[in-house]
Amino acid sequence: MSRQKIEYTPLHADFGVAITGLDAAGPQTPDTVEMIKKAIDDYSFVVFPNQSFTDDLQLAFTQSLGEPEESHVTLGEEGRVEYFGTIGNVQADGTAIGNSHPKTVFKTGNNMWHSDSSFRPVPSYVSIMCAYEVPSEGGATLFISQRAAYDRLSKATKEQVDPLVGIHDYSYSRSKVGPRVLKPELAASLPPVKQRMVRRNPRSGAPNLYLGSHCRQVDGWEMPPSRALIDELTEDATASQHIYSHQWQAGDLVIWDNRCLLHRGAGYDADKHRRLMRQTRVRGACNSLAE
Ligand SMILES: [Fe+2]
Repeated sequence: MSRQKIEYTPLHADFGVAITGLDAAGPQTPDTVEMIKKAIDDYSFVVFPNQSFTDDLQLAFTQSLGEPEESHVTLGEEGRVEYFGTIGNVQADGTAIGNSHPKTVFKTGNNMWHSDSSFRPVPSYVSIMCAYEVPSEGGATLFISQRAAYDRLSKATKEQVDPLVGIHDYSYSRSKVGPRVLKPELAASLPPVKQRMVRRNPRSGAPNLYLGSHCRQVDGWEMPPSRALIDELTEDATASQHIYSHQWQAGDLVIWDNRCLLHRGAGYDADKHRRLMRQTRVRGACNSLAE
């Protein structure tokens, strides 16, 4: 049987690639897994369009890249391990919830620039998302490269941020969504953690900023100078020309590198549209301070 040619199409000057010609849902050879891991290291964001996934196939794909990371919400609230999160408003019974539903409001926290699981002692390596139903308008996810952002910094700023450590605090980031959105048992399960503010890709050594909405403060600094620095770095990193906006299509399988990208939801009208995507994550190698 002839194999389709695998083709790479870059998506943005800073990062991102679409890969066609590969059945990502099928069983992967070690060579293909290595090819995908290299694409993650090189491009940070990888989309495989027109795929046919199920939850079982997505879990197998996730396991091919490493150890699945359990949902912090299900673990914190119910003490149960669940590898899948639903992104969107379609529920398990097929019905869709609207804008005012508490679950929808809670998820608006994802509309702030963030890196998934940066608040965990061992943060995430990648997130993997399969799109099943997408709104006809809105619902994009925006991404920026913190590697490109670091490269653009002045020499003096690089020297300033290189040794710094950030405190990542889930209770802090969720307090910006609204009061009492976080259940006490979930808050208690996620105490603040320290992460390097500049990380390096283990394969290439390429440095990147590591910020996002969970990053509350610079370790050892007061809040006002911490916020001034974090907010300025974030504002520069997320300027419009640096953004890749992913307009989801049903059948997309997307992988993004949480070690070096920030992302956020652009929002959509949940009263008018259905959106269903399934997300898994792969655990990182260790706490960023131990890299
Ligand atoms: Fe996210």
